[in-house]
Amino acid sequence: MAPRHFLTLGDFSPAELRAVIDNAIALKAAHRAGREPPTMAGRVLGMIFEKSSTRTRVSFESGMAQMGGSAIFLSPADTQLGRGEPIEDTARVLSRMVDIIMVRTYAHAKLEAFAAHSRVPVINALTDDFHPCQVLADIQTFVEHRGAIAGRSVAWIGDGNNMCQSYIEAAGLFDFELRIACPRGYEPDAGLLATAGARVQLGHAPAAAVAGADLVVTDVFTSMGQEAEQQQRAAAFAGFLVDHELFARAAADALFMHCLPAHRGEEVSAELLEDPRHSVVWDEAENRLHSQKALMRFLLDGH
Ligand code: CP
Ligand code: NVA
Repeated sequence: MAPRHFLTLGDFSPAELRAVIDNAIALKAAHRAGREPPTMAGRVLGMIFEKSSTRTRVSFESGMAQMGGSAIFLSPADTQLGRGEPIEDTARVLSRMVDIIMVRTYAHAKLEAFAAHSRVPVINALTDDFHPCQVLADIQTFVEHRGAIAGRSVAWIGDGNNMCQSYIEAAGLFDFELRIACPRGYEPDAGLLATAGARVQLGHAPAAAVAGADLVVTDVFTSMGQEAEQQQRAAAFAGFLVDHELFARAAADALFMHCLPAHRGEEVSAELLEDPRHSVVWDEAENRLHSQKALMRFLLDGH
């Protein structure tokens, strides 16, 4: 039987995603109480990183260790991937040796090719198009601070990038309204927007998107792989800084999230990022650990 993969949020049903979030919250409590069963004993996670990472690497590696398993970090610099071994061959070989694999790469199609040739579950740890693991952690964080996200409104301010596109998918799966404000020319994929329907609205005015929102989210203006566009992007994104002035338009108890790393003074002001009344970015980062543990358990054990 073909294994289940987690390449986008849409690979799971709404009920499955809710179960992963519930399990993440339970695993977090068990971890803090020091009573965590070694459910991954003897199991190995392979981790392919073709882009840099702090949170993703440490959360997957620590998570596997906390559940009694282990993880192997693989980068192109010191594997045959960097010397041109096809991704399909790498998938076939690795998946005969490890139990589950996460991949951070550029083209989403490369991840899909990898998964198509893997005997074991494959997790998207960020591609140019999607970052579903981060959005799982974001939803967990919202639920912990404010309760269910269904029926709430979320404002995405900035680039129509991988994070934005996973939020578009999340809006349908978790049943919330998403208002996107991005500069012209930096919109998310039109096909994805078309399938999202009326629940997701695209505009170009941050103030309108933030008005009354329960959650305001932003991300860097220049993602990994776009470094050559940095100057042009800095000019295009003028006016998209999320600061206290913009945030004041959101609901009174609105939360601020950012997947990190953040560039203070570019997409978010240092004051808002550090304001514990609104910003939950440190909880959001920590929840990568708990939500991915729940995700790996779901993929390997079905619950
Ligand atoms: N948010 C996130 O994925 O961070 P890293 O790039 O540090 O893994
Ligand atoms: N959009 C960012 C997210 C980093 C976690 C990037 O792709 O670089």
